[in-house]
Amino acid sequence: MTPKSVQLTAGTQTLDMPVKEGSIGPAVVDIGKLLSKTGMFTYDPGFTSTASCESKITYIDGDAGVLLYRGYPIDQLAEHGDFVETCYLLLYGELPTKAQYDDFNYRITRHTMVHEQMSRFFQGFRRDAHPMAVMVGSVGALSAFYHDSLDISDPYQRMVASIRMIAKMPTLAAMAYKYTIGQPFIYPRNELDYTSNFLHMCFAVPCEEYKVNPVLSRALDRIFMLHADHEQNASTSTVRLAGSSGANPFACIAAGIACLWGPAHGGANEAALKMLEEIGSVDRIPQYVARAKDKNDPFRLMGFGHRVYKNYDPRAKIMQRTTHEVLKELGIKDDPLLDVAIELERIALHDDYFIEKKLYPNIDFYSGITLKALGFPTSMFTVLFALARTVGWIAQWAEMIQDPAQKIGRPRQLYTGAPERDYVPVSTRR
Ligand code: CMC
Repeated sequence: MTPKSVQLTAGTQTLDMPVKEGSIGPAVVDIGKLLSKTGMFTYDPGFTSTASCESKITYIDGDAGVLLYRGYPIDQLAEHGDFVETCYLLLYGELPTKAQYDDFNYRITRHTMVHEQMSRFFQGFRRDAHPMAVMVGSVGALSAFYHDSLDISDPYQRMVASIRMIAKMPTLAAMAYKYTIGQPFIYPRNELDYTSNFLHMCFAVPCEEYKVNPVLSRALDRIFMLHADHEQNASTSTVRLAGSSGANPFACIAAGIACLWGPAHGGANEAALKMLEEIGSVDRIPQYVARAKDKNDPFRLMGFGHRVYKNYDPRAKIMQRTTHEVLKELGIKDDPLLDVAIELERIALHDDYFIEKKLYPNIDFYSGITLKALGFPTSMFTVLFALARTVGWIAQWAEMIQDPAQKIGRPRQLYTGAPERDYVPVSTRR
């Protein structure tokens, strides 16, 4: 039974701190009065024990390997739903009726073009720029193009900004790709579904017809669904923190993209594929596993471990199936990278080090192989993650804006620097 409150004794003082219960998952201790009553802060680097907000969007049970979007298990959504439906669910809380779906899809489709001046904005980037650098810059720049959806106190403008971002993200991502390979930008095609349109913008060229393979489009759509939200992860917390100051939504999403770029977060799919390529063959796996276990070696098995999942990441299972589907459709029978991945997973799942530390494959372990087979270069992997996560960031941002308890995010610190001291003029410093 969860207690109604938790008592903290500090010297002669006892503080009664209320406990709040969610609909499922661990309860939280409300420490809001701690500072005023005891003069102390809590200390929790990396927020491993800290709930930063209340949310109704996504639930994860890391021990059981469960992920729910608005209560619906990710495997059911991935099996039966699609990405546009998932966007509606995350934004509005319920699965759409047919009429709601059609209307939402129509609105998304009608916002896919970006301001024509954006293409000139792109010319400012070096051709060899990493597409994530281009995404941070170009998504931030949307706030310079769409002045009529920057007022966060207006629900209509918030809605328009949300639709614009979900709709324009594939266009910008495809432009970032085309720019780095020196091909002309391809305009969106409104008769195509969301993911087929994205594939078309990436892989079509003006001089010949490009037909989107429906099996590959469906696989990528599922990959987008798996990445759509993941409660208060680093990039989502970044978006919320940026938004808590009242910054405009385009700037907040650009902040989220910057955070996602890191190899411990969204950059892990790129890092995992590079690692599989570096390992190269099954016989070299033991030396890499030994390095991952060596405390004096900073090397980690990329695509393994998760802050929240201490069980098999439910997304990784669906991703593994998707990888096989894609390779089969493309007629790739023997992929040496897949051989290395399967064997590495087998070895790690039976190794005491990984078992003890509950290090299981995460979503990024198989996504790199799949995205590579779909034709994307490694530098685009995190961009695809950002595209898919945009809806999660927006849903979380919108929830925060409407939360009456929302305040500017302002963590405190344990100061360990110099105590107060007097200024010394440079002429007398030694
Ligand atoms: N390979 C080898 N050892 C590992 C690994 C790994 N991939 N991950 C964690 N460990 C060890 C780590 O050395 C530590 O050992 P010890 O207790 O002896 O010091 C222990 O496991 C706990 O690790 P931690 O870094 O304290 O755990 P964390 O919750 O802070 O980190 C993580 C989670 C995802 C950053 C980490 O597991 C990692 O760096 N994994 C590789 C990168 C990766 O695949 N990231 C993608 C995450 S999923 C996509 C997303 O959500 O963005």
